Amino acid sequence: METPPRPELFDFHGVSMTKYFTDNWDNVKNFKAKADDIVIATYPKSGTTWVCYLLDRLYFGKTHPEKETSLPLYIRVPFLELCIPGHPKGKDLADELTITPRLIKTHLPVQLVPETFWEHNCRVIYVARNPKDVAVSHFHFCRMNSIHPAPGDWDGFLQRFMDGNMAYGPWHEHVDGWWEKKQTYPKLHYIFYEDLTENLGQEIDKLCSFLDLSPSAEEKESIISAVKFDRMKDNKVTNFTNAPLMNLKLSPFMRNGKVGDWKSHFTVAQSEQCDEHYKQKIRNPALQFRTEV
Ligand code: A3P
Repeated sequence: METPPRPELFDFHGVSMTKYFTDNWDNVKNFKAKADDIVIATYPKSGTTWVCYLLDRLYFGKTHPEKETSLPLYIRVPFLELCIPGHPKGKDLADELTITPRLIKTHLPVQLVPETFWEHNCRVIYVARNPKDVAVSHFHFCRMNSIHPAPGDWDGFLQRFMDGNMAYGPWHEHVDGWWEKKQTYPKLHYIFYEDLTENLGQEIDKLCSFLDLSPSAEEKESIISAVKFDRMKDNKVTNFTNAPLMNLKLSPFMRNGKVGDWKSHFTVAQSEQCDEHYKQKIRNPALQFRTEV
């Protein structure tokens, strides 16, 4: 399969986007949700795959044990707005799912999410991660995945990240917008990557209470073990081995999986500038991010 050419950014309903996330827009907008669909929403590089797999294990771990299924996670949990020529569209993959609940991934900012999910009062799980680690993770991701504009060097990339000059717009508007939605939409569960890292068991309990699930202690232990970074890195279902669009030789998808990796990329001046920038930009003071655990 051919690697798609690097896309240009353009303004899409007030959000910086590329054609690979907007070309199927009419169909995405008219997607037909079902009441038991579960949406996993994130800004890119915030732990989407981790939480998608956690949910996959929670719902289907018993019926589809890991060894019996080789279908990659990106097929099992379709990326709704993804539209790359010559590849299955996320919306079509979602339509084709026969499982219940359907798990559907999106990176859309809250104001662009198809109405159908709100109309059906679907459960939504939003995963947020601190901006410094997101920026580093995104930088390496853009190096190896040509569906994003080329990252250039780190200094330039960080500036563009803070300016929001990348697909899905500014990080702070994304996390803020979803946080605001949570205040009026009770079926939204907001998770932090840093909390998952620090106490996965507790976060699974909160998630299960939100989803009305009650796994046995044994099931929970088996899920905790399956979603560990090293296990997911070695697992073909989750590590994007053979994913048509990624060059894992340039950077693995399961790259580092840590809180605080930003320290190996940021200068002191960049770190201070970033802290100050987001102190000004984040609207809701209750929304706080930890850059170390
Ligand atoms: P790094 O690049 O910092 O390693 P997304 O799925 O939203 O694209 O996010 C990818 C990031 O989540 C990557 O971060 C990846 O390593 C990390 N990640 C994926 N699975 C993880 C896990 N089980 N534990 C911790 N981090 C994980």
